[in-house]
Amino acid sequence: MAYAFTLDDVRFLRSASGAAALAGCAGLDASRIADVEAARRIAGEHAAAVLETVVLRRKARAKLDADGWLFTGDAMQQASASAVARHRAARLAGRDVHDVTCSVGADLVELAAVARRVVGSDVDSVRLAMARHNCPDVPLVRADALHPVSRGTVIVADPARRDARGRRWRPEDFAPPLDRLAEVYGGRELAVKVSPGLDFSPLTWADEVELVSLDGQVREACLWTGSLATAARRATVLRGESPQWTITSEDPDDIGAREPGEWIIDPDGAVVRAGLVKHYGARHGLWQLDERIAYLTGDRPPPGVRAFRVLEHGPYQEKALRAVLKRREVGRLEILVRGLDVDPDALRKRLKPRGPNEATVVLTRIGRSPVAFLCEATRT
Ligand SMILES: C[S@@+](CC[C@H](N)C(=O)[O-])C[C@H]1O[C@@H](n2cnc3c(N)ncnc32)[C@H](O)[C@@H]1O
Repeated sequence: MAYAFTLDDVRFLRSASGAAALAGCAGLDASRIADVEAARRIAGEHAAAVLETVVLRRKARAKLDADGWLFTGDAMQQASASAVARHRAARLAGRDVHDVTCSVGADLVELAAVARRVVGSDVDSVRLAMARHNCPDVPLVRADALHPVSRGTVIVADPARRDARGRRWRPEDFAPPLDRLAEVYGGRELAVKVSPGLDFSPLTWADEVELVSLDGQVREACLWTGSLATAARRATVLRGESPQWTITSEDPDDIGAREPGEWIIDPDGAVVRAGLVKHYGARHGLWQLDERIAYLTGDRPPPGVRAFRVLEHGPYQEKALRAVLKRREVGRLEILVRGLDVDPDALRKRLKPRGPNEATVVLTRIGRSPVAFLCEATRT
């Protein structure tokens, strides 16, 4: 059960004695009894809050540039990854922005770095107190997002998709509900973060749906309205140190389907989820194997992707595939599947690959025919 921080905890954690206690406990491990006892000696009645903060700070490092921040467990999980928040904020550079669900401030801090003016609000007073510590220069107010307290600002919202009862799947169950947000701020410019798996088609008020991936994982969707929207659909790919790129439904998409080339390319999940596979193919001189399947093929892979050089291919039959793997002495096998009802883990168990070599098998269909590509995976 996650520790429930109070306003009193936040007051202590922000004080000089709190800072000293946090420094004294920074190396402790909450799962070791001796460390819990050490935390009690250092932080007394505040030991639980201090130790939880130490643990959350350690976990936060994987996704947030947030040294010295205060979090609750849920707020840390819900926080936008810094790289994604930075990208969203960049689209709002120079604007006046109100983050109406600011929580502890992961989006807010990035907005504050580029916006002309920024204000944050939330209904949760503990999170707001933490945001005051995390984003000391940003004006903050306690307010219900469904009762607007700003005028003329862009509204940034990130409704909670999880409450005490667990994950909420329906947009009307988000906090605040998505449809109510769109209604209350109708006519205002909005940037609303939502889950990438949402069905966007009923959300007719959204002028642009942007899918964002970070290091190959689709992290979120953002719905943009008014002048903030520049295309109906957009995919943005953020990857470590390499330059980010974006593609939209405004880009050319005339590629067609032809015979397999030398390479198979599995486009980034953000491109697939945004329905921009053809656009991505057109940009990189690729074509489809089948118009309904998201794999692309070509004679040269795009730069900076993991692509699959085709060693051999043919109709997919398990027995024939087993023979190929045996002949090539493949022991480490990656199986990718699109358009066929094949469970890769179950198939790998049945194939029992053995040998010193590694390979990737891409299973898909062309028309109605199942096909298998034996490939060598390469980062370009
Ligand atoms: C997913 S979190 C936002 C995380 C934030 N964008 C970040 O990156 O740190 C959602 C926040 O919405 C707040 N919230 C829920 N209902 C609200 C409402 N009606 N008005 C304002 N805030 C609300 C919750 O308290 C929670 O802090």
